[in-house]
Amino acid sequence: MEAKATAYSNIALVKYWGKRDEKLILPTNPSLSMTVDAIFTTTSVRFDESLTADTFTLDGELAGADATRRVTAALDHVRAVAGTRAAAVVDSVNSGPTAAGLASSASGFAALATAGAAALGLELDDTQLSILARRGSGSASRSIHGGFVEWQMGVEADGRDSHGIQVADEHHWDVVMIAACVDAGAKDVSSRDGMRRTVDTSPYYQGWLDTVEDDLANVRRGIQERDFELLGTAAESNALKMHATTLAASPPFTYWLPASLEIMQTVRELRASGTEAYFTMDAGPHVVVLCQPDDAALVNARLGELAGVTQTFVSHPGPRAHVTRTAE
Ligand code: DP6
Repeated sequence: MEAKATAYSNIALVKYWGKRDEKLILPTNPSLSMTVDAIFTTTSVRFDESLTADTFTLDGELAGADATRRVTAALDHVRAVAGTRAAAVVDSVNSGPTAAGLASSASGFAALATAGAAALGLELDDTQLSILARRGSGSASRSIHGGFVEWQMGVEADGRDSHGIQVADEHHWDVVMIAACVDAGAKDVSSRDGMRRTVDTSPYYQGWLDTVEDDLANVRRGIQERDFELLGTAAESNALKMHATTLAASPPFTYWLPASLEIMQTVRELRASGTEAYFTMDAGPHVVVLCQPDDAALVNARLGELAGVTQTFVSHPGPRAHVTRTAE
């Protein structure tokens, strides 16, 4: 009735931006990410028939009502598969970078689904696990797998074909992702709210949908052929398009801060001086810089010199989510 699992976060090269079904968390577009080895969550789940409600501890502190409700909702899907109503004690610890405000929902909900399923003795395949993770947070569907992972959006109304599949494993190609963190303060528009507002109000959203398949094909080919320029160019363009949609939303918003722009400009300068580097950004002000292993030290040093950068985290392709312990 107890299990512990670790899942690694992922950074999208083609972004998930918009839902066609809010309840089932079904996306309006396919996405593709790299699982990253430096950002992860370790979660233990213990089911106990005698408890009346789930408790959720995050980084050693009892979580608030909203976060606990989200964990309960995600666990309910695992409980439904196992046919139990037992409540659970959930204890999650994020690796250092997550505390700095980098993607934690992907690793968090992938670890929760993996540990929850193992604690209930469910023997699920990766598709089933990815679907359970997706119900917690869309991007978590990709963190079940290691390496390079596509979230196929699917067409079925019940979401049974909307899950992650591995495009290439973590040994295929050593792409380096350097997360350059900026002083963020509290995030005012969550990714969930931001994508909803964009889908509902941004006249640029159709432009996003019209070009995402091309970006996906280029990123996929870049990975398969280990063509860094193709991968980087398509990923950077895709991120810029996603962020452009938010500027046209009503009310408009942006995740960019002055420091984010400073990092983007630095990446362009690096490129102009012959170092191949590209950037991407999720729903927050931090910037993730893509480069190749031989350039990582130089790129990391340049980013570290910027006044607006508080810290950097260097990631390589990371492994799949996995169970580390089970107990009765
Ligand atoms: C911009 O997976 O956090 O990082 O499904 O509502 O929980 P929910 O959203 P979430 O959104 C991530 C959006 C993104 C792009 C991406 O990771 O693909």
